[in-house]
Amino acid sequence: MAIERNSWGSRIGLILAMAGNAVGLGNFLRFPVQAIRNGGGAFIIPYLISFLLMGLPLLWVEWALGKYGSRFGDHASPFIFDRMGKGRFWKYLGVFGIFSNFGVAAYYVYIESWTFSFVWFSVFGSFSGLSESGVSHFFDKYVNINPGMVNLPVIAFLFFLLTLFINITILSKGLNKGIERASKIGMPLLLLFGVLLAIRAVTLRQGVEGATFDSAVGLNFLWQPQLKSLYNPDVWLAAAGQIFFTLSLGMGTIVCYASYLDSRDDIALNAMSAGWMNEFVEIVLGASIVIPIAVGYMGLDWVKANAGFMMGFKTMPYLFQQWGPFLAALSGVLWFGLLFFAGITSSLAFGTPWMAMMQDEFNWDRKKSAYTFGLLILLLALPCIFFFQAGVFDEYDYWTGTVSLVFFALIEIILFAWVYGIDNGWQEITGGADISVPQFFKKIIKYVTPLFIAVVFIGSLIEPAGGEWIAAFKSLFAGHGWPFDAASLVSKVFHLSEKDTRWFINGRATTIFIIDMSRVLLTLAFLGIALVVKLAMVRRKRLQKNENLDGVTS
Ligand code: PHE
Repeated sequence: MAIERNSWGSRIGLILAMAGNAVGLGNFLRFPVQAIRNGGGAFIIPYLISFLLMGLPLLWVEWALGKYGSRFGDHASPFIFDRMGKGRFWKYLGVFGIFSNFGVAAYYVYIESWTFSFVWFSVFGSFSGLSESGVSHFFDKYVNINPGMVNLPVIAFLFFLLTLFINITILSKGLNKGIERASKIGMPLLLLFGVLLAIRAVTLRQGVEGATFDSAVGLNFLWQPQLKSLYNPDVWLAAAGQIFFTLSLGMGTIVCYASYLDSRDDIALNAMSAGWMNEFVEIVLGASIVIPIAVGYMGLDWVKANAGFMMGFKTMPYLFQQWGPFLAALSGVLWFGLLFFAGITSSLAFGTPWMAMMQDEFNWDRKKSAYTFGLLILLLALPCIFFFQAGVFDEYDYWTGTVSLVFFALIEIILFAWVYGIDNGWQEITGGADISVPQFFKKIIKYVTPLFIAVVFIGSLIEPAGGEWIAAFKSLFAGHGWPFDAASLVSKVFHLSEKDTRWFINGRATTIFIIDMSRVLLTLAFLGIALVVKLAMVRRKRLQKNENLDGVTS
C-alpha cells in the first residue's frame, strides 16, 4: 500500500505527460537519422505501416495493462504480469519493464545533459567563428575524446550530475506536482521552439544566407515515397525499431503511467491522442529541422554520408552561425532548449517503474525511491561516460534501448492477447472508452501485431550479411552456414565480426574487455532488480498470511 496516494491531476495533464514521455530525443535526433540512412522516402511507408499495425495496437495494450493493474493497486510490470499470467515466471519477464529503464536512463540522461550545456554555450557564443570541423572538435573535446581509452570530461560530468539532480528532484514531487507539471511547461515550449525552427528551415533558399540548396532538396528526399523499399527487410527493421523507441513502447513506462488512472477512465481515446501527438511532432517537426537545414548547407550527399545521432551537436551549431551572431545564439537556444524539454519529459518516465515498485511493495516514500533511482543511474552511467569512446554508450543503447524493448513487447502482447485472452483484453481496452475502436483491431492485436513483432525480433536475431536473405539461405543449403551480419544479435553476442576478441593485449585491457564488462554490469542490474521483485513477492505472501491469521484470531 502506498503511503502517499499518487495520481494524475487532469485528463489534459495525463495526455501531455504521456505525450511528453513519447516525444523525446528520438523524435528530433534519431528519426531524421534513421530516415536518411534508410533511403528517405523509402523509409516512410514501412514506418507508417509499423505505426498502424504495431505501434497503435501496442499502445492500447500497454495502456490496458496499466489500467488492469490500477484495479489491484499494482503499478510496476512484474506485479501486473504476475497477477495476469499463470505461472511464477511471468514476474521475472516483467522485470524487463524496470530493467530497460535503468539502461536507457544511464545514457539518455547523459545526452540530455549535453543539450543543457549546449544551451549555455550557444548563449555565450562558444561556437562563434568556429568552422564545421571546429564545432565538431568542440564536441569531441567536451566528451573528452582522446587517443587513450578513458574519457574524463569534467564539464560534461558536472552537467550530467546537474541534469540527473533536476530529474530526481522533479520525480520526488510525484506524478501530479512533478511529471505532470513539467510536461505542462515543457511540451508547449518545445512545440513553440520546434515550429519556429521548422519555419526557418523550410524557408531556406539557395543563395540566401550562404545556403547552397533550397530546403526543398532535403524535404523531397524525405517525402518522395519509394515502393521498392517495401521488399527490403532492413528498412522494415529500422522502421519498426524507430516506432518502438519513439512511442516509448516495451519499456514498462506507459504501463506504469496508465496504472495511475481510475479503472473507469477511457484509455482508447487517450492512448490515440498521445500517440498521434508524438507522430505529429516526429513526422512534421522532427523531419523539418535537421535535414532541410543540413542539406541546405552541406548538400544531400554529405548528409547521407555523415548522418548520425551526433549531428545535432556537431553540425547544427556551425550551421546556425551562417545566420549571423544574434540568430545563431537564438537558434542554438531554441534547438538545444527544445531537445532539453523533449529529453527531460521522457527521462522522467524512466524513474517511475522503480519508484512505483519501491512505494507499493516496501512502503518507501517518494523521496527515498527517487533518490535511490538517481544513485543507481549514476552508478550505471559512470562507465558510459568514462568509457564513451570504447562503446559502452552504444552497448547500453543496443541491449536496453533496442533488443529489450522488442522482447518485452512480444512477451506483453502474448500475455495480453493469448494468456489473459483477447476477449478479456478487448474489454479492458474498450470499457469506458470515449471512442469506438474498430472491431478489426481485435484481430490485429491477436494475430498481426504479435507476428509482426516476432518477425522483427527474429529478423534482428539472425540478420544475414548485408541484409541479403536469399543469398543467406542459398549459403545455408549449400552447407556453408548462415552468414550473420555484424549488426545481428547473434553476431553481437559472440563478437563474430571482431577479428581479435582477447580481453588483454600486452597486459592492457582491450575495448572488447570493456564491452564485455558493461554487459556483465547490465546483467547484474537485471538480476538485482529480479531479486528485489522476488523479495517483494515473499513479503506479499507473509503479509497475506498474517492477515489470514488475524482473521482467524479475531
Ligand atoms: N520515446 C522517447 C524518445 O523518443 C524515448 C523513451 C523511450 C522514453 C522509452 C521513455 C521510455 O526519445
